[in-house]
Amino acid sequence: MIECYAYISRALPDLDPVALSKIIVHSRGFNDAHGVTGVLLYDGSAFYQYIEGPADALADARQRIEASRHHGAIQVLLDGTPHRPGAFPRWSLGYLMLDEPAHALHAFVMPANHAQLVGAFHLLAAQADVM
Ligand SMILES: Cc1cc2nc3c(=O)[nH]c(=O)nc-3n(C[C@H](O)[C@H](O)[C@H](O)COP(=O)(O)O)c2cc1C
Repeated sequence: MIECYAYISRALPDLDPVALSKIIVHSRGFNDAHGVTGVLLYDGSAFYQYIEGPADALADARQRIEASRHHGAIQVLLDGTPHRPGAFPRWSLGYLMLDEPAHALHAFVMPANHAQLVGAFHLLAAQADVM
């Protein structure tokens, strides 16, 4: 069973580029090994993340995400079964730095419509080259 999880969080103000790159490398390592795919956007103060994958692996990833000391005030936008799986099939965790807050994502409330939420993540990811 494929499940999905999406949230907005507030990065700690002292988050430095080295810590950020460690988060991305660790997250990709886990996601790659467990069939989790998705995207992480960061605007300098907020994180926006969408991931999907097998239920057990996704629960593990979610636990690590929610336990991380690098961010807080996690606002869950969606969890459960995706309307249609395969939102970001090629990315274990695509990463994109935004130059302004993702207003389109702040407009969603739990439980967000899956297709609309994935569409908003896709639009933002299309605005720049995802690393
Ligand atoms: C913004 C953010 C996104 C993360 N995404 C994932 C993820 O997709 N998969 C995963 O297994 N862990 C994810 N993590 C957890 C990290 O890989 C790592 O386990 C965690 O940051 C280590 O704990 P610490 O941040 O308290 O040092 C994420 C953490 C943060 C802060």
